[in-house]
Amino acid sequence: MRIDIISIFPQFFDCLDVSLMGKARGSGILQTHIWDLRDWTQDVHRTVDRAPAGGGAGMVMKPDVWGKAIDQVIDQAGAAKTVLAIPTPSGIPLTQRQVRDLAENAEHLVVACGRYEGIDQRVSQYYQQQPGVAVLPFSLGDYVLNGGEVAAVALIEATCRLLDGFVGNPGSLVEESYELSGLLEYPAYTQPATWRDLEIPPVLLSGDHQKVKDWRRQQSLMLTAARRPDLIWDLAPDALEKSDREILAAHGFLPAPYSRQVRFRRAQPGEAATCSAIASRLFPQACPDYLPEDAIARFVAEELSEQAFKAYLADPGTLIILAEVAPGEKNKEETSWETAGYTLINAGAPGFLPPEENLVQAAGENCAYLSKCYLDQRWRSSGLAGAMLEVSHAQLQALFPHITKIGLGTNQANRRALKFYRHHGYRKCGRRTFMVGGIENQDLIAVRDFTARQVPSWAQNVAQ
Ligand code: ADE
Repeated sequence: MRIDIISIFPQFFDCLDVSLMGKARGSGILQTHIWDLRDWTQDVHRTVDRAPAGGGAGMVMKPDVWGKAIDQVIDQAGAAKTVLAIPTPSGIPLTQRQVRDLAENAEHLVVACGRYEGIDQRVSQYYQQQPGVAVLPFSLGDYVLNGGEVAAVALIEATCRLLDGFVGNPGSLVEESYELSGLLEYPAYTQPATWRDLEIPPVLLSGDHQKVKDWRRQQSLMLTAARRPDLIWDLAPDALEKSDREILAAHGFLPAPYSRQVRFRRAQPGEAATCSAIASRLFPQACPDYLPEDAIARFVAEELSEQAFKAYLADPGTLIILAEVAPGEKNKEETSWETAGYTLINAGAPGFLPPEENLVQAAGENCAYLSKCYLDQRWRSSGLAGAMLEVSHAQLQALFPHITKIGLGTNQANRRALKFYRHHGYRKCGRRTFMVGGIENQDLIAVRDFTARQVPSWAQNVAQ
């Protein structure tokens, strides 16, 4: 690749002689030419700027001087295609995608570094009309530098390191921020294992490659969610696994194709009506086909009434977590979040045993009871169900530290639910009969042991 840099401070680019850039310049991967714009002036003062037309502060760089300089370097390079990059705070934000495109496709790059109030607009306009020239006005970010030189160095370094033969280990490029995954890169650590009382995360020293891979993926997702939510909204739907979606949902994101914000919070004592409404709406969705409507209606009226939830909310051993979805990705209006699902867990006093006899035997001491876990079908496959369950587990542990297990009963024919709970560490250990409106249902009982499978760190401290 040939790069021509034109600036009134050519000495600025001495930095391109150092490190890998210098090596690449010497190796023939890269040909760089650095030019002093003033060499194209014709007056004794070597003037490159004039007052802005229409008045105002600062000076504008003259198009005639720039035109001569750019024409000459384009002619000299003789490339079929030239990219004329113009650093400017009003340019399009520079991205990894753009620099990759340059590295892969640009044979000749000219960087025109403006100073003062920038370069007369007609320069960009003129070269846009020239065949074989593409103009790229780019910005490094939402801040103003003294001139385009720093931005030019950034563009050149980001582009050149992607050229074939530039870096020793091309694999190191693949896992980087923005590359392929569209996520920020996970944090890196090296020896010593302890430094100023800070440890390397133990998983990185475990030697378990799959665990290391999972941990890094989780860190990337959480970091991107915290620092660059815009990148999360831009993710392609097929870029995410179910486990990724669960982590993102726990941190407030249901990315495309759902494109919604989500949050989790503990239901408050005054919210019995809200809880009863969501419970009554979701219970019928989850019922097996054989249950008649009147039996379902009886169950809803008896067990899921506002009165019933008043009692749950008044009980200090009961935890209700609500999952709420915003009406649109950008809309943050407090009042319009809709309840998408909920969990109800009975933790009881220390030593509490769940009411079903089989569950008591199966689970033993310090076992909570996941009495309800329902999510609107609209959010199926969004990761929200898994996030809601793990966030509820985390809240349970935070509020009731003596709890070491949690048990549940679910209809034995509900394969989807059984698979879901199995995936989240619940293991079958018994049966029970569950009555819905006077009709007997056969349930399987399953228990998750938090000592065997810990609540994931991504679910901690999430519920409000
Ligand atoms: N010139 C001045 N500020 C700039 C910025 N933020 N990006 C690119 N070029 C600039």
